[in-house]
Amino acid sequence: METKLLSDSAGDLLIAAELLKNGNVVGIPTETVYGLAADARDPDAVRRVFMAKGRPADNPLIVHIAEISQLEEVASWVPELAYMLAKQFWPGPLTLILPKRDDIPAITSGGLDTVGIRMPSHPVARALIQMAGVPLAAPSANLSGYPSPTKASHVLRDMQGKIAAIVDGGSCEVGVESTVISIETENSVRILRPGYVTKEMLEEIVPNVALDPAILHQLQEGQAVRSPGMKYRHYSPKAHVVLVEGEWEAFAAMVEAQNSMGNAVYALVFDGEEHKTTVPCLTYGANAQEEAQQIFSKLRELDDIGACLVYVRAPKPEGVGLAVYNRLIRAAGFEVIQV
Ligand code: TXA
Ligand code: MG
Repeated sequence: METKLLSDSAGDLLIAAELLKNGNVVGIPTETVYGLAADARDPDAVRRVFMAKGRPADNPLIVHIAEISQLEEVASWVPELAYMLAKQFWPGPLTLILPKRDDIPAITSGGLDTVGIRMPSHPVARALIQMAGVPLAAPSANLSGYPSPTKASHVLRDMQGKIAAIVDGGSCEVGVESTVISIETENSVRILRPGYVTKEMLEEIVPNVALDPAILHQLQEGQAVRSPGMKYRHYSPKAHVVLVEGEWEAFAAMVEAQNSMGNAVYALVFDGEEHKTTVPCLTYGANAQEEAQQIFSKLRELDDIGACLVYVRAPKPEGVGLAVYNRLIRAAGFEVIQV
């Protein structure tokens, strides 16, 4: 299959919407990461998404809508708290897990009777949902297990020849995937995946916000999984990634010692630190928002330059930094060291 590269011009969006209406898979920009979109109600279209990604069948997709009023086209029951959260955070990077309607096929929800729903803020994503006239199921547009794509070129790298088209909408502003929450009671929610919408932001609307333990810890054998995505290897580049907690001086001493032993190491550090060591470095920002924006792109870049072993400066696991930390411990296969 030839993968068409489309721009965000009105004419190209019409082509993309037509492809989506006809059961094809299209890579689309959102404010978080690029998504691999298909008609959420068409089981054949959704099957093509799973095949292109190589995604396990029990890992459900998020369904994207363009208006709050479409919630009831996807969810069979929408509690008052869901409307309050939607009014506050949509359009934007928050996904709500709700009971699904029967016309959302089981393949879309990974066999669960719930479905993840979000209304993206990216104008191209919203235009395409509206023009296609159907809710769009869209996981991140990477090959399963690999870092998520934040540029059209990343999607092309992973999906060339496997999907009908990619719409180039520039670099993603947020850079990490949406915050995923389940609604537990009328005044409590649980964060299953941290994102740009933080625990503190949610607490302004909901009195009780719990963090699922799997956000920061590896699941143990037999432990119940609240979100299927938690149990799979994720966000990993080809390079061996080690996450390092501690101060700069101790970090620099450790990577320099590794380097002088003849191990070809790279370091992924915060802006400004690259001048303070002779070890080859890439930087990924000066604050949590920049780190979120750049993390996936830098992990991909390390593979492009052939890095085999990468030591990464750990962000503080708070605010948006929790989302970055959560992606990095998985990229590192939970190999975290303290210096
Ligand atoms: O920002 C995002 O959310 C991006 C863009 C494209 O919208 N999408 C995204 O989708 O990250 P994906 O498929 O890569 O991640 C969805 C996560 C998975 O970990 C999945 O297990 C979880 O959400 N999920 C989806 N539906 C669920 C459900 N019904 N119950 C529990 N977890 C669910
Ligand atoms: Mg993903």
